[in-house]
Amino acid sequence: MKITITIDGWSSCGKSTLARQLARELHYVYIDSGAMYRAITLYFLRNHVDWTNPDAVEQALARIKLEFVTNHKNGQTETWLNGENVEYVIRDLVIAEKVSEVASVKEVRDFAVSRQQEMGKNKGIVMDGRDIGTVVFPHAELKIFMTADESVRVRRRYKELYEKNPNVTLEEVKQNLARRDYIDSHRAISPLRQAEDAIVLDNSHLTMREQLEIAQHWVKERL
Ligand code: DC
Repeated sequence: MKITITIDGWSSCGKSTLARQLARELHYVYIDSGAMYRAITLYFLRNHVDWTNPDAVEQALARIKLEFVTNHKNGQTETWLNGENVEYVIRDLVIAEKVSEVASVKEVRDFAVSRQQEMGKNKGIVMDGRDIGTVVFPHAELKIFMTADESVRVRRRYKELYEKNPNVTLEEVKQNLARRDYIDSHRAISPLRQAEDAIVLDNSHLTMREQLEIAQHWVKERL
């Protein structure tokens, strides 16, 4: 028997790390829903799409093809936009600055959510994001809501971005996280919130091994 596992929570609290760990252990599919919003944002920025105009958004979405492709060199799933591997470029701060605005647009959410539901229809999936346990898979067997202290989250994201771009500052990262968390949790459509039946996992003081063991225990209870 396979179950559906959802992982929601604040920006940069390690959702994708845990989701990847669980998918690898369970031989499940991992889907990074945030990557879909990031890839859509990249397309809108490159093509000067005005995301406040619903017609322009609809037309642009009709031209977007998103895929998750396994990179056989490292076994990781990567995001492809219209035949181009965009996994690296969508992690840039330029995208992070705009993605929460784009992810607030109704047409964008309808587009992403219907694809996410399609990908998860056979279960055996771990999906992370902001509304996965509340909107995308409200009947998921295991819902995890992740959190971590703000200073821990800022340091983790800074370290990640610094490796790619040494010009990035701690303050920039801190402000970006705070702004995204505010927009993500205050938007009108499917804001970030903890599902009533979600279990909270605060990983501020946990190692990767420890967080995996806790989540594995929850999976066992549900299988
Ligand atoms: O998980 P992430 O930081 O890559 O997500 C990028 C943005 O996408 C995040 O700030 C909000 C949005 N998002 C969303 O609205 N709903 C999701 N299920 C996943 C991400």
